[in-house]
Amino acid sequence: MALTDTFAHVVPLVKDATASGNLKVFQSLLGPAWRGMVQQRGKAAPTTQMPVHHQAHFDWNYLRNRPQLARLFDAAKAAQWHPQEDLDWKTSVDPLSDEAPLLPWDFLPVTQLSQFKSATPRQKAEERRGITSWLLSQFLHGEQGALFAACQVTEAVPWLDGKLYGSTQVVDEGRHVEVFHAYLTQKLEKKYEINDNLYVVIDALMSDSRWDMKFLGMQIMIEGLALGAFGMIQQKTREPLLKQLLTYVITDEARHVHYGVLALQEFLAELSEKERKEREDWAFEVSLFLKNRFLAHEFYDEYYGHLMSRGQWDKLVLDSEMMRLFRRTMFKRVIPNLKRIGLLSDRIRPKYEALGLLEYEHGRAAPELTAEDLVNDR
Ligand SMILES: [Fe+2]
Ligand SMILES: [Fe+2]
Repeated sequence: MALTDTFAHVVPLVKDATASGNLKVFQSLLGPAWRGMVQQRGKAAPTTQMPVHHQAHFDWNYLRNRPQLARLFDAAKAAQWHPQEDLDWKTSVDPLSDEAPLLPWDFLPVTQLSQFKSATPRQKAEERRGITSWLLSQFLHGEQGALFAACQVTEAVPWLDGKLYGSTQVVDEGRHVEVFHAYLTQKLEKKYEINDNLYVVIDALMSDSRWDMKFLGMQIMIEGLALGAFGMIQQKTREPLLKQLLTYVITDEARHVHYGVLALQEFLAELSEKERKEREDWAFEVSLFLKNRFLAHEFYDEYYGHLMSRGQWDKLVLDSEMMRLFRRTMFKRVIPNLKRIGLLSDRIRPKYEALGLLEYEHGRAAPELTAEDLVNDR
């Protein structure tokens, strides 16, 4: 990558990563940012090796002393579904169809561009397939990260009831990888590489040795992002198989967030104030990152890279209806959960206020918010 390109990628990131003013948080994101943005490790080769450093926690007492987690484990066992039997894979999906469109036109960030307006109907439909495939490809890559994070947290969490519940999340995430991959390859027949910014967040989770940071990053932040994005597409698509698939996935993800809130509420309450502040700042940085950085650059490179600058593209996407809806559905979940686990103190509130995110703080947090609410309530 040319040096100017490197700066174009890294400068906005450094700006975001210093917004909390916490040097330790900045340092912890620097390595992942270098590997993701500059070295582009998620794209440079078909496989990536990531060293992990957490401790596996064994407890020979086998105490079952977390009844809420035990109930969640029971609920998860009863709610397992089978992708081949429960989803209607015989549905014939035409990714270019206008009768059962993958997404409505007004949802695409490019519809006001003169280049799009003058495109042929087929080109327009191809772009709609492209943006849907970009979104679902990021879901797929995120699910791979969730599968590994769920494995690591299951090893590292100190409570047996947490480990038993975690074993069901591992199966859930494996199933999610399976269904998104099958839909992309068999139905859309198009798949994109991992977005550099998503790579940075996944790398940061994998390489952090503290299990609660993996937990905070995956169960609260990434799962919040995923629920926001899944809910948005589930609501907007008219393609029946995609709608059905997302409805099933959302039901599982609701349990994962519930687990995250239960476990972190207990664990964070026992940390020192300094340790709690670090988690609070980290969550703020990641919020900023998720709010500003998922801008479909891989789609831009393919369709609009020769027509406009990356800065023009970023502005177009940030101001689009798609991003507005995405931010709303995502932070509506994340902010009440952060508050519930004790990471929305008076110290950090003005920073969220400045981003316009405090309006969501009185929403319901995970334990009260059921899977049914998540499917129906936008
Ligand atoms: Fe998942
Ligand atoms: Fe999940």
